[in-house]
Amino acid sequence: MSFINKIKQSISSMGKVYPVKNRNCTEFEIDNWELSKFVLDKLVPVVGVHPYPLNEQLLMAGAVCWSKPDYVFEWGTHHGKSARVFYETSKYFNINCGIHSVDLPDAISHEEHPGNERGKLVNHIPEVQLHQGDGVKISQEYLSKYDNNTRVLFFCDGDHSFKSVIKELEEIEKIPVKKYILLHDTFFQSSKSNYNIGPYKALLKFSSQDRYKKVHTNLGLPGMTFLYPAKQS
Ligand SMILES: C[S@@+](CC[C@H](N)C(=O)[O-])C[C@H]1O[C@@H](n2cnc3c(N)ncnc32)[C@H](O)[C@@H]1O
Repeated sequence: MSFINKIKQSISSMGKVYPVKNRNCTEFEIDNWELSKFVLDKLVPVVGVHPYPLNEQLLMAGAVCWSKPDYVFEWGTHHGKSARVFYETSKYFNINCGIHSVDLPDAISHEEHPGNERGKLVNHIPEVQLHQGDGVKISQEYLSKYDNNTRVLFFCDGDHSFKSVIKELEEIEKIPVKKYILLHDTFFQSSKSNYNIGPYKALLKFSSQDRYKKVHTNLGLPGMTFLYPAKQS
């Protein structure tokens, strides 16, 4: 029996089913029923359904279970809801991963800056390290010493302008680790909606987009996209 199967068996023996299907195939696949139970039982009571509705929580938790990252690097922290989703998922499914969450320094003004409430849902959890600075720069500094054997899940939820998101994607691409990327606010609607489709346009323009496969939650706002390497190793 393979090591992975032993882990899966020990998890199921504790009454949990690991919610990933067909990991030896080419496409991302989760067990929607199992993961829905986890989202409803463990995530929604802590983080509610705003800003991440149920389908996005499924994708966030699914991305963690599917990629089994050594690290999650995410920005911005805000109150810590997304960091808490990543923490609860990794803890519940026994995925050993460090979570780093970045928000802007207090002195920098941003319409969504959380002020004194920064990280309030995670600031008591030792596995979640909070930083202040620019999300992608801090990730680059921390991860420059790692290589392709290190699996990192990035979650970009900072400034949602086209310019910021395309810059973040291109900078993430330079980091020498194995990359999995979740992007928030990627829903597309035509111009009469007056929605901000900056993140959607950045995704289309991302020069390395062909190196990744994509999973979108396309039902409505805010929208989330998961990018994972097209070539598995
Ligand atoms: C939409 S909120 C993030 C929501 C958050 N992930 C949650 O769980 O609720 C956007 C946050 O990104 C922060 N931010 C904006 N630009 C940033 C950057 N370049 N680096 C880090 N944080 C940034 C803002 O201060 C704000 O707190």
